[in-house]
Amino acid sequence: MRVDLRAYWHGIILIGAPGAGKGTQAVLLSKALGVIHISSGDLFRENISGGTPLGKLAKSYIDRGDLVPDDVTIGMVKDRLSQPDCAAGFILDGFPRTVPQADALAEVLESLNKRVTVAPYIRVRDTMLLERLTHRWTCRGCGAVFGAMSLPPRDGCKQDVCDGELYRRPDDNPETQRKRIEVYLKNTAPLIDYYRSKGLLEEISGEHTVEHVHRLMMDAIRKSVGLG
Ligand code: AP5
Ligand code: MG
Repeated sequence: MRVDLRAYWHGIILIGAPGAGKGTQAVLLSKALGVIHISSGDLFRENISGGTPLGKLAKSYIDRGDLVPDDVTIGMVKDRLSQPDCAAGFILDGFPRTVPQADALAEVLESLNKRVTVAPYIRVRDTMLLERLTHRWTCRGCGAVFGAMSLPPRDGCKQDVCDGELYRRPDDNPETQRKRIEVYLKNTAPLIDYYRSKGLLEEISGEHTVEHVHRLMMDAIRKSVGLG
């Protein structure tokens, strides 16, 4: 008998290098589990397009491929997690990205009597990451991402009712791509051991098709609620 995973509370954090497919998988998981998808990168990009002080500050780091300072990032994500649509659970994509961020998340969740339920780590080799980032198109309207072969950019987004223009993220240029991968290896890869030591890490190969990776993700989530 298939149990409906929507009946469970999920606190999912996606770990993976730039281009591993965190955003792509988060959208599918959000639909399958009925919980909100929070991307720290998208929150920063919304602030940048809105011209907010937070956006102006974040832009200088994002354009260089550096991490936005922890205090700023933690404050932004804490605010988002306190909103009512997170009560049913969440999928965090791009946060935490440092050990202090992971500790801050644990603290916030503890104060809400919640916890991270699983940390899927999407593993993809560097050459493939660079290839994917080089061919990615992003929708200005809904933030959907596309690979080179999935849609001719001139057609616009065409996701659900969206007709947004597709653009290349400014931080997807070759120099910044490499810098982001270096920053990931130095600052974020330690989270793999952090969550492994807590028994929460689920390592998943991200080198299969999007649909196959999604099936592996769902298996990991089933396991995290004791159904695997
Ligand atoms: P963020 O927006 O989080 O970028 P990122 O981590 O670099 O990750 P990406 O969004 O580039 O990749 P992804 O894993 O989501 O891959 P996607 O699904 O798009 O962060 C941007 C910046 O914001 C950071 O550099 C930093 O400055 C700042 N920031 C954000 N969070 C922060 C934090 N917590 N602390 C401090 N600073 C922070 O897929 C990529 C491409 O591959 C797409 O074209 C997609 O179609 C394709 N693809 C996906 N899966 C597959 C597959 N299985 N097969 C073939 N193609 C695939
Ligand atoms: Mg992303």
